[in-house]
Amino acid sequence: MEFMDNVIDDFKVDFKYYKQRASVPSFNDVVDFDKPSSLIEKASRVNLEHCNSVKNMTEVDEWEAYQLDSVPGFYFIKNVFSEEHQFYWAQRCVQDFTHSPYVTNLDQFQEKSSIDKMWEISKSNFLQSGSSNLKDTPIWSVRWATLGYHHNWNTRNYSKGHRTDVPEDVARMSINIAHALGFKKYKAEASVVNFYHESSSLCPHQDLSELDLSFPLISVSFGLDAIFLIGSDVKTSKPTAIFIRSGDVVVMSGRSRTAYHALPRVMSTSKLQIDSRSDFLSCYLKNSRINLNVRQVESENSVLPED
Ligand code: OGA
Ligand code: MN
Repeated sequence: MEFMDNVIDDFKVDFKYYKQRASVPSFNDVVDFDKPSSLIEKASRVNLEHCNSVKNMTEVDEWEAYQLDSVPGFYFIKNVFSEEHQFYWAQRCVQDFTHSPYVTNLDQFQEKSSIDKMWEISKSNFLQSGSSNLKDTPIWSVRWATLGYHHNWNTRNYSKGHRTDVPEDVARMSINIAHALGFKKYKAEASVVNFYHESSSLCPHQDLSELDLSFPLISVSFGLDAIFLIGSDVKTSKPTAIFIRSGDVVVMSGRSRTAYHALPRVMSTSKLQIDSRSDFLSCYLKNSRINLNVRQVESENSVLPED
């Protein structure tokens, strides 16, 4: 008797394909927003609404926005951050968001006093003993940080009492992106910052913890290039693979807001011009990818549990 379900999980097949390290996969089918020829019949240009200037990002008039034809509501926006802006945000993530009052994966293992100085300690360790020991510095072990309502990874919930601020600049930046796409009521209430290295990946999942999924999820990335997979509400459907590079913005709204997605591969390449730079942030970014994503959690009609 055959107990196995015969449905082929096309998402898992592609996830494993791009994640493999035994041999290098072909990237021919990966949608590349830096190559106009790869967008034919895959993505369409989108007009943006004009917005006021916001610090640490370029003017909306300079942005180039697309929607994926296969996944309505999935937006990709280029030219939102100059190199200087990208360094600003990367520094904020790695220096300011990796300690209290924010929550990180290391909180349960380390003393608060050492976590609070995570970046400074790592930087001085690194500068004292040459460039070989980035992987021995404490900052290398930070995998994620949460800001605003802190996502509980076990219950997959948020709660009223477990929150800090969403930093003003993060809120303003994400609201500006939401406004440009016409989401005028979006509020920035929670953020997850993911820190990846070349061997890291993020398994297929949906982001459903937020109470009103009609609001967009805004996601910005810095550092190494990566391959991102976006599918549909059906776990097993074949995803579209796209390149996400430093400074690129992805917005999941509409049908794509509840779609399965994953990050199978961090590449060794980067769009940032940092080969010749030897400061600690540049060395970190040559070996890492940072993803800062921002969400609205509450809805007008339902409230979060107390704890
Ligand atoms: C997430 C996520 C994708 C990325 O944090 O939920 O899907 O680009 N991140 O890192
Ligand atoms: Mn996600």
